[in-house]
Amino acid sequence: MDREQIKEHLKFAAELGVAGVSRDGAWRTRAGKVAPRQPRDDRRDDGHPATFSRSSAEALAAVRTEIGDCTRCKLHAMGRRQIVFGVGNPDADLMFVGEAPGGDEDIQGIPFVGRAGQLLTKIIEAIGLKREGVYIANVIKCRPPGNRNPEQDEVETCEPFLFQQIDIIKPKVIVALGTFAARTLLRTLDPISRLRGRVYDYRGAKLIPTFHPAYLLRNPSSKREVWEDMKVVRRLLQSEV
Ligand code: URA
Repeated sequence: MDREQIKEHLKFAAELGVAGVSRDGAWRTRAGKVAPRQPRDDRRDDGHPATFSRSSAEALAAVRTEIGDCTRCKLHAMGRRQIVFGVGNPDADLMFVGEAPGGDEDIQGIPFVGRAGQLLTKIIEAIGLKREGVYIANVIKCRPPGNRNPEQDEVETCEPFLFQQIDIIKPKVIVALGTFAARTLLRTLDPISRLRGRVYDYRGAKLIPTFHPAYLLRNPSSKREVWEDMKVVRRLLQSEV
């Protein structure tokens, strides 16, 4: 990281509500100090693997192959350019789950690459990790027309693939980004404002619901709550469980 990057990182951390930093050496081990789990013992401190575990990478590739050029739901005929499967470390301890690809994602085939995605990258970096060290996916893999909310039949058709991704990656922590992802994963109709602030057990992981980065772009004052959630994420990543 050069001086400019450090300045920008600290500025964003301040925006997120970080009150200060410590020069205590122990503090540096706070985030991304991921307890190695067998057999995936090749992770670095930033969550980025020295090498990907072949089995998880291969299993994810098999799921992607199974999806194929999907026509299982109506979205395939509603202007989606491509399937946006997921990106990142197949052995990640931390996984982010969003709603559905938007316009930029539909063009690039990668989740969270637009403005909201850039904010997500900053949030990941604010807890000492790198985007490549985590895994990022959406509940549904095709862009809904006009970025409308995904519909029930689309979710029901697509969510089994997300569940397969989660079961292969086996993250310690899943962050559900926004009302839609949180409601879908937790099978509830509660709004994100009611769901966040608690840790849920979910498919062998701890699930933290938080505000969607697109919401934060419209409501920057909520970055403080997201920072609170990210501190919980960091603590869970450091814990042995
Ligand atoms: N919003 C989402 O929920 N997912 C993306 O990939 C991009 C924006």
